[in-house]
Amino acid sequence: MGKTGIFYASKGGVTETFAKQLAEHLGADLHNMKDTNVDAIAGYDNVILMASSYFFGALMEDWGSKVKLLHTVDFNGKNVAIVGVGNQERHPDSFCSGAADFYDKLRFSGARFVGDVCACGYTFTFSRMQRGGRMLGLCLDKADPKVQEKIDEWLKVVKPLFTK
Ligand SMILES: Cc1cc2nc3c(=O)[nH]c(=O)nc-3n(C[C@H](O)[C@H](O)[C@H](O)COP(=O)(O)O)c2cc1C
Repeated sequence: MGKTGIFYASKGGVTETFAKQLAEHLGADLHNMKDTNVDAIAGYDNVILMASSYFFGALMEDWGSKVKLLHTVDFNGKNVAIVGVGNQERHPDSFCSGAADFYDKLRFSGARFVGDVCACGYTFTFSRMQRGGRMLGLCLDKADPKVQEKIDEWLKVVKPLFTK
């Protein structure tokens, strides 16, 4: 199993709580983007990019100011998983949309994206994370009664892919 790092941004602690749970299961290091530079990503084979969305689908600001620097990191050969956090009942037209910035920035970077999920089982009307029947990564809503199930299923898929 290669080295795994979770790079997250969280305003009210919801994303942080999910990030801690993923870290525990994956044996991953946790990095809060509030006090981390993107350079730290270079030291990992497996990278989880994680953030909540605010203001019509913008990345939480601690990541929002740094996402533009992702091109300075060499992603060739790295596994990258995206995790968005949002609220589909209150923000159904921009659910987890900010996390799609990670994909937009890295789609031609040489990164191997893992951990896309079925768009079924969600109730939003629009998300920039959606591509046809799939979501670009795991989308979490703490009010979703199936949130734990979604995390468990995702971990089952992603954990074996984080091997090198
Ligand atoms: C002002 C405001 C705007 C929000 N905008 C969105 C949004 O556009 N899309 C979304 O999915 N969630 C949105 N949310 C919900 C948060 O992303 C959600 O509460 C999340 O759990 C917060 O995680 P955090 O505590 O890690 O920052 C918004 C919340 C607030 C307070």
